[in-house]
Amino acid sequence: MTRAMAGDPWQPILDYQPSGLDALFRDEPDRLSALTLEAAGLYFDWSKTHLDRDLLKHFTALATACDFAGQREALFSGGIVNPSEGRAATHVAERGSGSAEEVELATSRRARMRAMVDAVEAGAFGEISSILHIGIGGSLTGPALIVDSLGRRRMRFDVSFLGNLDPEALAEATDAIDPATTLVVVASKTFTTAETLENLEGAIGWLRQGGVADPYGQVIAVTAAPQAAVALGVDETRVLPFGEGVGGRYSLWSAVGITAALALGWDAFEELLEGAAEMDRHFRFAEPAANAPLLAAFADQLYCQHFRAQSRAVFPYAERLLMLLPYLQQLEMESLGKSVTSDGKSVTRQAGPIVWGGIGTDSQHAVFQLLHQGTTPVPVEFVLVRQPDEGLDPESHGQLLLNAIAQGAALMQGKADKDSQRAYPGNRPSTAIMLDRLDPRALGALLAFYEHRTFANAVLLGINPFDQFGVELGKDIARGLGDGDGLASLDPSSRALIERIGF
Ligand code: F6P
Repeated sequence: MTRAMAGDPWQPILDYQPSGLDALFRDEPDRLSALTLEAAGLYFDWSKTHLDRDLLKHFTALATACDFAGQREALFSGGIVNPSEGRAATHVAERGSGSAEEVELATSRRARMRAMVDAVEAGAFGEISSILHIGIGGSLTGPALIVDSLGRRRMRFDVSFLGNLDPEALAEATDAIDPATTLVVVASKTFTTAETLENLEGAIGWLRQGGVADPYGQVIAVTAAPQAAVALGVDETRVLPFGEGVGGRYSLWSAVGITAALALGWDAFEELLEGAAEMDRHFRFAEPAANAPLLAAFADQLYCQHFRAQSRAVFPYAERLLMLLPYLQQLEMESLGKSVTSDGKSVTRQAGPIVWGGIGTDSQHAVFQLLHQGTTPVPVEFVLVRQPDEGLDPESHGQLLLNAIAQGAALMQGKADKDSQRAYPGNRPSTAIMLDRLDPRALGALLAFYEHRTFANAVLLGINPFDQFGVELGKDIARGLGDGDGLASLDPSSRALIERIGF
């Protein structure tokens, strides 16, 4: 890893010696107002990070040098922001924020999706009580997060998700549902993903065994490759297309969200899109010093490059945000886990950090030891929901939030002790993101915030966040092994493992 060159806008950031958090609060009386903001109904607090006035200036200069404003405009106006695949990234158009042409296309596709939701509700597929959603990666984690966060105790259908190739997963996903009244939604951008196609075949077998005479009659396919779905047996009228420019991990806003729209109702899905659109407007038009995704990216880069943090830990203090972690892991690690820049040069800095974490308060009794006293620097992110869900005890909800705030305070202030085992070094950074309620609008804004933060990080690093070639090699080798060739060219260790399986 190289340091910055003279004249490099990174240099002042790398050379900077940030004060301790206590001193920053003492020396910058306006720190709280400068480093907190409200955007799209969410409250953000970076005051317990080491960002300060000077660093903000240096990062803003870096963003200017990276043509952040130009690249952001390209994102929203349908420019090629995914150069390795020669594509625009059109997920923002799904919520009305992209180029006029892309928004029009997305709107007409959404009308089709809406008609399909209406048709299911009107009984066009017979009596439906359950949905089996099949997909993997972005074709699953986004919808699963939305359904789990917003649908607990108020779902209009039983929904199960099937992603893993493990037959155990198929058995579990179908265990408690009736084939006669199950609608299968298969989501795959490419319609070539082995796990998804295999699981679809398994689900078709399950429907057939359950006495369904025309199993494909109960299948809706969502894809950017409609012909591939038709070729596999799905009727054209039950294929919902989405655009090539919508990356898998950004696809929950498209027809991939149909499971969520069915489970939660169309209005909830629209509100989710509106929340995201509000965050789009904020990201597109807010000044750098008041731009939530960009400020978050500044803090991310500060910890990755200056403090050499290799990971960031995210702790939602909200049981219903359990699925946020797998969603974020794919979004951030698939987007930023690169070692070359968009123009093919080596990345000279640490690119995307490892994203990990867990649900508060459970995590306090597991991993927080390392955060408070470990030797590895880990910036922490708390995701809080101010109001409890309807009917839940406000007292215990308050206790939950106080726990999160206490952890942030403890990380920052530390504690001296004569006994070194019992001392806390303190000066450990944390960020808070607070939703007022966990409703569709707030969730939409939160997920769009994470998308734009990822994009902003990519711009600062000069990498393309919209491709993922790193996932291909393993798939190719697996395909070769599945076809029966490929074994001979395998290393001795892998060959011995295969022999041991007796496959
Ligand atoms: O493994 C990588 C990946 O391409 C993800 O980016 C994507 O979300 C997932 O596979 C599923 O792909 P598809 O939607 O084409 O089945």
